[in-house]
Amino acid sequence: MSTLCLLYLSFWTLLAQLESVYATQARVLIYSRTLGFRHDSIPTAIDVLKAKQESINVEFTSTEDPSQFTDSTLSGYDALLFLSTTGEGKVLDADGIASFQKYLNLGGNFVAIHSASDTLRNTTCYTRELGASLPLETSREFSLTSIQGSIFDYHPALQNFTVDVFGPSHPSTSMLPAQWTVQDEAYNFESDPRALGAVVVLSANESSYVDTGVRRFDQGTPHPTAWYQEKGAGIQAGGVAGRSFYTSLGHLNETWQDELFLSHVLGGISWALQSNTTRAFNSSALVGNQENNSTATSTSVGPQPTKSPQAQNNNAPGMATSYVQATIIQKLVDMLPKPFSRPSTAIIAGTLFVVVIGQVAVKLLK
Ligand SMILES: *[C@@H]1O[C@H](CO)[C@@H](O)[C@H](O)[C@H]1NC(C)=O
Ligand SMILES: *[C@@H]1O[C@H](CO)[C@@H](O)[C@H](O)[C@H]1NC(C)=O
Ligand SMILES: *[C@@H]1O[C@H](CO)[C@@H](O)[C@H](O)[C@H]1NC(C)=O
Ligand SMILES: *[C@@H]1O[C@H](CO)[C@@H](O)[C@H](O)[C@H]1NC(C)=O
Ligand SMILES: *[C@@H]1O[C@H](CO)[C@@H](O)[C@H](O)[C@H]1NC(C)=O
Ligand SMILES: *[C@@H]1O[C@H](CO)[C@@H](O)[C@H](O)[C@H]1NC(C)=O
Ligand SMILES: *[C@@H]1O[C@H](CO)[C@@H](O)[C@H](O)[C@H]1NC(C)=O
Ligand SMILES: *[C@@H]1O[C@H](CO)[C@@H](O)[C@H](O)[C@H]1NC(C)=O
Repeated sequence: MSTLCLLYLSFWTLLAQLESVYATQARVLIYSRTLGFRHDSIPTAIDVLKAKQESINVEFTSTEDPSQFTDSTLSGYDALLFLSTTGEGKVLDADGIASFQKYLNLGGNFVAIHSASDTLRNTTCYTRELGASLPLETSREFSLTSIQGSIFDYHPALQNFTVDVFGPSHPSTSMLPAQWTVQDEAYNFESDPRALGAVVVLSANESSYVDTGVRRFDQGTPHPTAWYQEKGAGIQAGGVAGRSFYTSLGHLNETWQDELFLSHVLGGISWALQSNTTRAFNSSALVGNQENNSTATSTSVGPQPTKSPQAQNNNAPGMATSYVQATIIQKLVDMLPKPFSRPSTAIIAGTLFVVVIGQVAVKLLK
């Protein structure tokens, strides 16, 4: 009987771990407000990201409502994703910017795509967190210094060009060919994101396309096209820095229907979430998905395992669940037949399985 108990408890612990891993589903807020040019690929991008959300164990929420930028609303997200936003002013008002700054200071993660570098040029925490921005003809009345972050300058016409992969081991680029052909806009920036500590992972091959524009800014070489910051530079002194990822690609609907491009974006999002500074992977973090933490989702099936205080703290060595592990377990759960694809039913099925195996084991041991 004690063998059965031991077996049952150890399997139960395993299943409870599965449940708590499943429960670390990250929440990401997609913000796509446009006050300047509006990309018609925005709804396509949102649909495609939502269709893929389970593959990276994320729940996306999309909005264009700046009133969502309050301390309490932002604190429920593990990352903010600025998707092809454009324009200034009411993209975020002063209160929204203050909440954004606070979110970053508390360890929030940041992802930005395409013309998100053409927004909020005067908002230093935003441009620093992104790493760079792009100047429109209309907004050339000022330019940023490298420590303010760089901003979009201009782009040559949409055309095919090749992008060289620099960080081939980064989750946003590991699946890409060394020279990747894209049909997109090769953005130029007002400063070098590397000046803020960003690591460039993609670089437009300038011999592979025609750019008749006049460069007025030094964006550094090789040409920055996508990059990440291990510690987003948008935080204020004393803050906990989350991660930041930016890709300047993503103009066309067709781009968003390209699996390779999507893997690039999803890889960047997953990487940003693995900062361990939000609740998806850090139970003492100050922002992130509160509802889906292991404390909040307690399924009342079978005995509740008694967790030590250390075990509840994902910071304890060996207890942090990596995002990759979470995603693998999510995929295993997805592979189960439909009735078993919920964590609670997986646990019931698993428990029954353990009881049966346990009884067979006990019979054999007798
Ligand atoms: C892009 O997709 C959106 C719907 O997601 C559609 O409204 C728009 O017309 C498409 N644009 C082009 C150029 O096909
Ligand atoms: C940005 O700041 C500059 C300098 O303070 C100012 O001249 C410009 O009008 C501002 N632009 C916007 C869009 O707020
Ligand atoms: C650019 O690439 C697209 C597919 O990525 C292709 O359909 C198109 O023919 C290419 N255009 C040129 C001018 O090579
Ligand atoms: C850059 O593009 C040119 C023209 O297509 C090509 O000849 C060259 O090999 C490319 N270089 C790299 C490093 O990708
Ligand atoms: C987050 O935690 C995982 C698991 O302990 C670890 O592998 C990873 O390096 C951590 N990431 C950071 C940025 O500390
Ligand atoms: C988990 O969620 C519960 C209920 O929302 C909340 O009280 C608790 O503070 C959360 N724990 C962490 C570590 O976020
Ligand atoms: C977890 O969150 C706390 C509170 O923000 C932070 O101090 C700590 O550094 C985070 N842990 C990791 C591994 O980032
Ligand atoms: C919590 O996770 C479940 C799936 O496990 C999801 O249905 C629910 O919407 C999530 N809640 C929040 C607030 O993210």
